[in-house]
Amino acid sequence: MKYIQIEQALKQKKGKVSVRGWIYRIRKQKDKIFVILRDSTDILQCVFSQSKFKKQWKAIDKLLIESSIKISGSIKADKRAVTNYEIEVEDFEIVNYAERFPIGKDKSPEFLLDVRHLWLRSRKIQSILKIRSTVFGAIHDYFRSKGFYEFHSPIISSGAAESGPTKFTVDYFGTKTYLTQTWQFYAEAAIYTLEKIYTIAPCFRAEKSKTSRHLTEYWHAEVEAAWYNLDDLIDVAEGLIKHVVSQVLKKNRKELEILGRDIKKLEPTIKKKFPRITYDQALRLLKKKKFNVKWGKDLRTMEEDKLMEYYNVPVFVTFYPKDSMAFYKPRDKKKPKVARCFDCLMPEGHGELIGGSEREIDIKEIKKSLKFWKEKIEDYEFYFDINRYGSVPHSGFGLGVERFVKWICGLDNIKDAIAFPRTMTRFKP
Ligand code: 4AD
Ligand code: MG
Repeated sequence: MKYIQIEQALKQKKGKVSVRGWIYRIRKQKDKIFVILRDSTDILQCVFSQSKFKKQWKAIDKLLIESSIKISGSIKADKRAVTNYEIEVEDFEIVNYAERFPIGKDKSPEFLLDVRHLWLRSRKIQSILKIRSTVFGAIHDYFRSKGFYEFHSPIISSGAAESGPTKFTVDYFGTKTYLTQTWQFYAEAAIYTLEKIYTIAPCFRAEKSKTSRHLTEYWHAEVEAAWYNLDDLIDVAEGLIKHVVSQVLKKNRKELEILGRDIKKLEPTIKKKFPRITYDQALRLLKKKKFNVKWGKDLRTMEEDKLMEYYNVPVFVTFYPKDSMAFYKPRDKKKPKVARCFDCLMPEGHGELIGGSEREIDIKEIKKSLKFWKEKIEDYEFYFDINRYGSVPHSGFGLGVERFVKWICGLDNIKDAIAFPRTMTRFKP
């Protein structure tokens, strides 16, 4: 028996087909049982008639949702069926009877997270996971097509990290080490051998905040490139976002529809150039909306969202105040109060997607900034070393992949952008 996937069976439209999968819905009448079968590709109605299966009727009648089954029969168009086709079952094999499935209608989000291992089978999560797969593939394609090498940094790190967020500690044979928050410092070492590199890897932040945008474990797409300045870097970020969104629009129409995502919200992103505004301009735009931000303060979530009410595409905000930025973001020579950096903000209240900057390569300046942030200078010795032997201007950024998926899919919470989310209060299943 050659089994085909439901998507293929639907394309075939008529004749004999054999499919296999799980029971998504089941409806029993006196002499007919309607099964909606699902596999990874789609769903399809299959009808068992009692007249055909007199002997097996009891066995069929025992089937519950999520039982696994193989079915052969003739497929034909039927307007009443969910996906417009129906199989008249001629032969079948029950692979495994399912126990009563614990997920039914109107379950709370917390319950669905408790049974996430089962909820993965829902059409919602299945669609998100397919889109997520496209997003990862498209990120790899984009960088490789532009001549970037994939480079990997360690997950267990000795110290250097982003200044704001807190770190998870790991007891490393009696020594305190940390789970990585960014590949950046290792990447900066590697550009002196590979020049243009990228990665997609898990990163960890001991975020105590319970928000719809923060995970404690997330996938971080990062890039670092020798000789690139801020404008070059922003061009890469814009190209990357456009490429990923266009791939999703090409490959995942069906999934976007299942999620009820309005693709008109995504289309401007591939068509329009993204605005690039400075922090100062952002403050002026916010003032018009009666939001007064004191110069020098980083933008908070609600200010970012307010600012984004002006736009329907991602926006690059550049040149934030140096003293509110991480130590490695260099002062602008012409305007020393600001740093040569950017954040990319997303429309519809999805907030910061990317943070990036040129990198400070003057060891004296780096030390000054580290002191300003009260960091331990000795933790950064290897970082100074990188800059001792022919350092060159370079830039890089980091993009939170779940935040990207969240926006593309139009999700309320970042937890649904990853199969098994990790947050302050959740590390199971
Ligand atoms: O702005 P961040 O902290 O920048 C860095 O880590 C730089 N070292 C990156 C670099 O230049 N290579 O983090 C970058 C992005 C954020 O814009 C956000 O999208 C994502 O990482 N991010 C998170 N995503 C989910 N949950 C969290 N707790 C996140 N923290 C950051
Ligand atoms: Mg940031």
